[in-house]
Amino acid sequence: MSLRERRRAALTLVVVFVLGCVAMVTAVQPSAVLAGERPQGSPAPAAAPLASTAKQAAPRAVDCRNLKCVALTFDDGPGPYTAGIVKALKAKGAKATFFMLGSQVKGREAAVRAVKAAGMEIGNHSFNHPDLSKLGARAIRSQVGRTDAALAKAGVKATLYRPPYGAMSRTVRASLADRPISLWGVDTLDWRTRSTSATLRAASAAPRGAIVLMHDIHGSTAKAVPGIVSALQAKGYHLVTVSELLRAPQPGKVYTGRYAR
Ligand code: NI
Repeated sequence: MSLRERRRAALTLVVVFVLGCVAMVTAVQPSAVLAGERPQGSPAPAAAPLASTAKQAAPRAVDCRNLKCVALTFDDGPGPYTAGIVKALKAKGAKATFFMLGSQVKGREAAVRAVKAAGMEIGNHSFNHPDLSKLGARAIRSQVGRTDAALAKAGVKATLYRPPYGAMSRTVRASLADRPISLWGVDTLDWRTRSTSATLRAASAAPRGAIVLMHDIHGSTAKAVPGIVSALQAKGYHLVTVSELLRAPQPGKVYTGRYAR
């Protein structure tokens, strides 16, 4: 082997080594990003800057036209179980919508603010839960207005309305024409069974696009929430607020979900 041939061989070795290193680095990067997105992943030290970039981009809105979404909703609070439910949701990166009663909001303004601060949506569920379909326009407006005022004291504006019992009438619709109405597609019957396992089963069976009815005033429902979130997330569902599910709910319209077309 001449000197020139030896130099060429050495140069080839160096080039191969450098190319090998580049290939390894580019192969490691995508898996590091994936590891950063998995809460239980163990990202390599080199992945730290990538993981923090992914974290910053995380709060972007979920697009339920392309992703599997379900909207969990909790009515009749806030009450003694509300904070625990919010904590369980937040721990798993889930959101939900709380339809509150004005009479329950009064004196619990800090609790209401905490629900909102955790990224949850808040809706108006009347002041003290009458059947609005049996009331006149003036009484209906009073039920809605007093609850709006109670929420405003907590610094919160309700984005949606849900009449108690889902009871509608022409007068109810006309009186609530200035905001979207959210009913539901799945009733877990948690208010009747008061059973954690029955509530877990009913909510976990929700189809894509469903608005699921539950109540944050029952301990049995609160106990079911961590399992419901795990079961739905394991099926690939994103747990979103009703407004995220519907994208841009229109005033005067009545929604029961956003089902696949
Ligand atoms: Ni209710």
